[in-house]
Amino acid sequence: MDIADKLARTHLLTKTEAMELLEHAEDRELAKRLAQDAVELRKKYYGDKVFTRGLIEFTNYCKNDCYYCGIRRGNLHAKRYRLTRDEILECCENGYELGFRTFVLQGGEDPFYTDERMEELVREIKGKYPDCALTLSIGERSREAYGRFRKAGADRYLLRHETADEEHYRKLHPKEMSLAVRKQCLNDLKELGYQVGAGFMVGSPGQTLECLAEDLVFLQELRPEMVGIGPFVPHHESRFAGEPAGSVELTLFLLSVIRILLPKVLLPATTALGTMDPMGREKGLEAGANVVMPNLSPVKNRKQYDLYDNKISTGEESAEGLERLKKSVALAGYRLVCERGDFIGQ
Ligand code: 5AD
Repeated sequence: MDIADKLARTHLLTKTEAMELLEHAEDRELAKRLAQDAVELRKKYYGDKVFTRGLIEFTNYCKNDCYYCGIRRGNLHAKRYRLTRDEILECCENGYELGFRTFVLQGGEDPFYTDERMEELVREIKGKYPDCALTLSIGERSREAYGRFRKAGADRYLLRHETADEEHYRKLHPKEMSLAVRKQCLNDLKELGYQVGAGFMVGSPGQTLECLAEDLVFLQELRPEMVGIGPFVPHHESRFAGEPAGSVELTLFLLSVIRILLPKVLLPATTALGTMDPMGREKGLEAGANVVMPNLSPVKNRKQYDLYDNKISTGEESAEGLERLKKSVALAGYRLVCERGDFIGQ
């Protein structure tokens, strides 16, 4: 296909080309070809390494009400928890002993964790583990706050844009949230020198191929160091409870396209992908992903970080499952490594 050829040669797609490519997403031959190109590029830049990030889901309190999400504030049935500073440090300690050299502090937008508290936490973790990369994933904050976290030692920031289409963004979020603010946050984070992760759900309600084409164009413009994508999975306590889940196949197709567009990008095989398909993670690697994010959160709280139904939490995606994960990654032909795995430049 001409567009696949062009993509492989130039690592560029216009919106129209992206649409045309996506219209053929069900073409098995095309998907295979893109996956081959993607795997080759990943190999060229990262060899057979698959990077690990230790995920610490430290609070499920959230002031936002994103319609798709199980921990939105409107879900009165969510059992809320918040790890204490000591518990968070303990997660890091466990992770460090297991060999992890990157920690991701992820949480809802929890007002208890003020800018001051977050800054202090970052300083403390980086003081104890200066050899580790620290990633924050705590949503929208002021540029000033992002600057303070960065100064305190935070290296990376994950903030999915969720959808780059204005109208679609409004379907997924209440009116107090906006795509413009989300984009501003991502730009601020970039300017402050974070390695930035954007991303979106595949198959979220109301998503069209045009929305996805817009996502691909947006990623080309932003040039994030990381991109997190996973299928939408309905949550039973949300207005999207009855909506169909996103497609694993389309997620894999998009992983390949993103790898070719941004050859050096750090691309996780996400938990949502692993939730929708028991072989999802391995399939993600075969499609061009090169990161996995095992869960370092205390086992007692894992079920509570309930973003969507049936979210896996104690299998190979967990820190205890690390040995099994190593084996399954090795079986897929890759090597799981614990090093920081910094972005290697555009
Ligand atoms: N299905 C899939 N992914 C979800 N997320 C939130 N809710 C869902 C859902 N129902 C994703 C969002 C968010 C990330 C932490 O989890 O993209 O950015």
